[in-house]
Amino acid sequence: MTSDRVTKAVIPAAGLGTRFLPATKAMPKEMLPVVDKPAIQYVVEEAVAAGLNDVLMITGRNKNALENHFDRATELEYLLETKGDIDRLAAVHHSTDLARMHYVRQGDPRGLGHAVLRARMHVGDEPFAVLLGDDLIDTRDPLLERMIGVAGARGGSVVALMEVDPLTAHRYGIATVVRTRDDDVVRITGLVEKPPLGTAPSNLAIIGRYVLDPGVFPVLETVAPGRGGEIQLTDALQELVHVAPGVHGVIFRGRRYDTGDRLDYLKAVVQLAVDRSDLGPDFEPWLEEFIAARAELRSGRVGA
Ligand code: UTP
Repeated sequence: MTSDRVTKAVIPAAGLGTRFLPATKAMPKEMLPVVDKPAIQYVVEEAVAAGLNDVLMITGRNKNALENHFDRATELEYLLETKGDIDRLAAVHHSTDLARMHYVRQGDPRGLGHAVLRARMHVGDEPFAVLLGDDLIDTRDPLLERMIGVAGARGGSVVALMEVDPLTAHRYGIATVVRTRDDDVVRITGLVEKPPLGTAPSNLAIIGRYVLDPGVFPVLETVAPGRGGEIQLTDALQELVHVAPGVHGVIFRGRRYDTGDRLDYLKAVVQLAVDRSDLGPDFEPWLEEFIAARAELRSGRVGA
């Protein structure tokens, strides 16, 4: 039976994570801890918060850590139970009980489009959400619910867009757009994956959230390898731009962290840690002292 309601989330997590080597040699980058949770848990929690309890993860080599994280850990649970460590036991249970988790292997990581195509059997003929496993959207700035709403109202597929520094546009899929009556919604007229430096048609970059019409699957089957020899989701969406009802973008102005990038990863850890009630009150004053000491050292050096 087909439905217009979005109920399934697909989380590609099969990339090689080369920007984070050697940490990612034997472990997926999605398992890197952000404070005390792996990045992937934030992403699954975001899907669940948007009402998507059915989660399909696309995994690659080193998949075991991902599956184990969302599975029971009987020995650990027993140990915590006997110690009466209720808080940690609850934390361990939480990741197991979060969602109905499913897994499929990508085999060769031949690009994001290729990863999404692995979801075809599971998703069927329904719209679905895609959340990149290394991209964190701060829960205080919800995005996915808005995208699902826009897809429901306008039909077709919806991508999340963010204004980026034009000097970094070559690292993203970039959209050409026309405005709509909604301040945060645009209609997409063209998409290009990682345009060469200085050639980007705009500074609106695709970030790691999509609500996709199942019509994307047959396009992904036939789309030719693009940038980097990979099957690009951006190239498949470009083919759908001129097929009614087209592709829309929701412009996100909140906090987002690309945890696959080392600098962004560090920013994510610091920003989320200072806001934590259990760590922030100790961490933030230390951070301020650390920065002040660094500044003093620098001014001493300059004066010397
Ligand atoms: P990235 O381009 O950031 O992933 O893909 P990567 O190739 O692992 O990273 P680097 O550049 O080598 O460091 C964005 C998301 O798509 C997934 C990745 O796991 C990540 O969550 N992905 C990418 C796949 O699942 N399969 C692929 O073939 C490529």
